[in-house]
Amino acid sequence: MADSTVWHIRLADDLEGYYFAVDENELKEGVMKKVTVEGTPILFIKLKEKIFAINNRCPHMACEFSGGSLEGDVIVCPCHDWRFNLETGEYEDNPWFKLTKYEWRIKSGKIWVKLDD
Ligand code: FES
Repeated sequence: MADSTVWHIRLADDLEGYYFAVDENELKEGVMKKVTVEGTPILFIKLKEKIFAINNRCPHMACEFSGGSLEGDVIVCPCHDWRFNLETGEYEDNPWFKLTKYEWRIKSGKIWVKLDD
């Protein structure tokens, strides 16, 4: 089953329920971009024409991923070095722990995210 939170770049028609987050041209390959949307800390990561939007707080003890590092499609938390796969969202050593990922859409160079209800 496809992961609906990882979409290739495409135009969005319906943005109902989505909030503006960032201009597409602010995202650089392999560079983390931290934004706050409606009070939610979101980290954007662009990798090989894919864009990931994740909660910037680690599910372990809430450290900010933005202070960590990227190793391919793995993000490493700076506090205890837990490694999460961006595609699956899973912690490598225990898939029970997962990143919070957000659906996003792009329209006219603007990226919008859908927050939890
Ligand atoms: S807070 Fe991220 S690994 Fe502990």
